[in-house]
Amino acid sequence: MGNKKIIIFDTTLRDGEQSPGASLTIQEKLIIARQLANLGVDVIEAGFPIASKGDFEAVKQIAMSVKGPSICGLARACDLDIDRCWEAVKYSDKPRIHTFIATSKVHREEKLHKKKEEIIDLATKAVKRAKSYCDDVEFSPEDAARTNLDFMCDVVKAAIRAGATTINIPDTVGYSEPDEFGNRIKYLLDKVPEAKNIVISVHCHNDLGNAVANSLAAVQNGATQVEGCINGIGERAGNASIEEVVMNLITRKDYFKADVNIKTQELYKTSKLLSNLTGLDIQRNKAIVGANAFAHEAGIHQHGVLASKNTYEIMTPEDVGWKGENIVIGKHSGKHAIAALLEEEGFKPDKDQINQITAKVKELADKQKSVERDDVIAIARDIMLELSEGDQFVKLEEFTVTTGIGMMPTASVKLIVNEEMKIAAGIGDGPIDAISNAIWNIIGSSFKLEDYHLKAITGGTNALADVSIKLSDMNGNLFSGRAVDEDVIKASARGIIKGINRAICFGNKIHPQNK
Ligand code: KIV
Ligand code: ZN
Repeated sequence: MGNKKIIIFDTTLRDGEQSPGASLTIQEKLIIARQLANLGVDVIEAGFPIASKGDFEAVKQIAMSVKGPSICGLARACDLDIDRCWEAVKYSDKPRIHTFIATSKVHREEKLHKKKEEIIDLATKAVKRAKSYCDDVEFSPEDAARTNLDFMCDVVKAAIRAGATTINIPDTVGYSEPDEFGNRIKYLLDKVPEAKNIVISVHCHNDLGNAVANSLAAVQNGATQVEGCINGIGERAGNASIEEVVMNLITRKDYFKADVNIKTQELYKTSKLLSNLTGLDIQRNKAIVGANAFAHEAGIHQHGVLASKNTYEIMTPEDVGWKGENIVIGKHSGKHAIAALLEEEGFKPDKDQINQITAKVKELADKQKSVERDDVIAIARDIMLELSEGDQFVKLEEFTVTTGIGMMPTASVKLIVNEEMKIAAGIGDGPIDAISNAIWNIIGSSFKLEDYHLKAITGGTNALADVSIKLSDMNGNLFSGRAVDEDVIKASARGIIKGINRAICFGNKIHPQNK
C-alpha cells in the first residue's frame, strides 16, 4: 500500500493574522500568499471576509490572482457570513468555504445560549447554504477537543449529510494531550463510518505547547489534513507550525508513511518573509527555521558533524532552503548581489524596484561605513510596499521641527492633499508628537492614532529608523503604515501618511484644513 497523502492547509493569513501584534496590509497578504503557493501548500485560508472590508478585499484579491492552492474563506454558521465569504472566494479556480459553529458545553451555554439540537440545525443549514455556492465545503465544530465525543460525532454526521467535504476538528484552546487527541480522531472515524469518505482535518492551538504533537497524533489516527501557520503564529500561543509538521512527516516518513506536496526548500524563505512583513521575530532556537536550528556549538558535536553529518544532523539546512547568510553588501555591491540577498529573505522585487533599492542602498553605504542585511531588507520593504502614485492622496512635501531644552517642540508641515497644498503647525511632548499633531491638524479627526512603534534597524546614531503605526477610522477599522528613513522624524511622518492613504484608499473621506 502506498503512503497516504496529507493535505497542508495554511491559515497564516487568517488565524495567523489574529496573532497579537501581527496585522498585514492587502499588499503584504498578496506577497505572502504567492510565496505560500510557491511553497506548495494545498489550501490557503486567506481571511474572514465578513470581519472587515480589508479582510474581504484581501481574500478576493488572493482568490483572483494566486494560482495553485485552493483559496478558502472563513464564515460563521449564518447566511450573511457565508454569502459574503462566497463573494470573496468565488474568483478562485478552486474556492472553498469554511464554516464553523461552537459545540462544547461551555461555548454552547455561555457564548451561544443554544441547545444541542439548535447547534445541529445551524450547522446543517450553514453547510447546505455553502454547498449551494461551491462543492468544496469545510465544517468545524469549534472547541471540538472539549466537546462531548458523542455529540461531536452527531454534529459531524449532520454536516457530512448536508454536504461537507472536509470536517475539521479544532483544539481551539490548545487543551488536548497528544494521545487523547489522537483517540478523539480514531473514535470519530470508528463511530461515523461516512467520515472515511471525506477529509478529516485537525487544527491545533499551542497553549500547552502541544499543537504539533497533537496534529501528528491525529495523522497517526487517520486525519488527512493538517491546519497550521508558518512560524507557528496565530491566536494567543499560536497554531501548529507548518514547517514543523511538514518536516516531521518528511524526516520520519518511515514512521508516518505519509506524503506532502510541500517544496521544503522554500520553507526558510517563507518563514523569513513572514517575519519580515509581520515584524514578529523568530525565536533563535525555533525548530526548523530558527537561526540556531542547524548551529552546532559544543565541541563534541562539531567534531561529530565534521566526521559525518549523520552524527548530529537529522536533516540538512539545505533541505529547508537555508543557504547561510553569505552575501555582504557595501557601496560597490550591484543589483545582482542585492537581489540575491533579498531572494534569501523571500522578497522578489521587480526590475524597477531593484533599481530603486540599489540606489537607496548605495546612498546609505556612502553615508555609513557598512550596510547591514537588515538595512537592505528594510529599504526593500519600504520601496516594495510603497503605495502606487494613484493611491497617494496625501503627500509629504516639507516639514520643519524645532526642539531643545526649555522650549516646547514645535513642527510645521506642508502636505499636498488631493493636489491642494495644506500647511499647519503643531506642538507636542517631543518632536515626533509635534509633527504628528501638525499632520492631524490638517487631516482632521477622521482617524485616531492607535499605535506608534519605532525600531532602530542596526546599531549606531546613524541607524535607519523603522517606524510602524496603526490608526483607526470611525468604524474601528485598523490601518497600518510603515516607513524607513535615516531621519526618525521623516520616517514617522511618512509612516503616519502611509496609514492615512491606506484608510482613504479604503473609502474613508477626509476634510482637510489649514491651521
Ligand atoms: O481555533 C479554532 O477553532 C478556529 C476555527 C475557526 C477553526 O480557528
Ligand atoms: Zn484557530
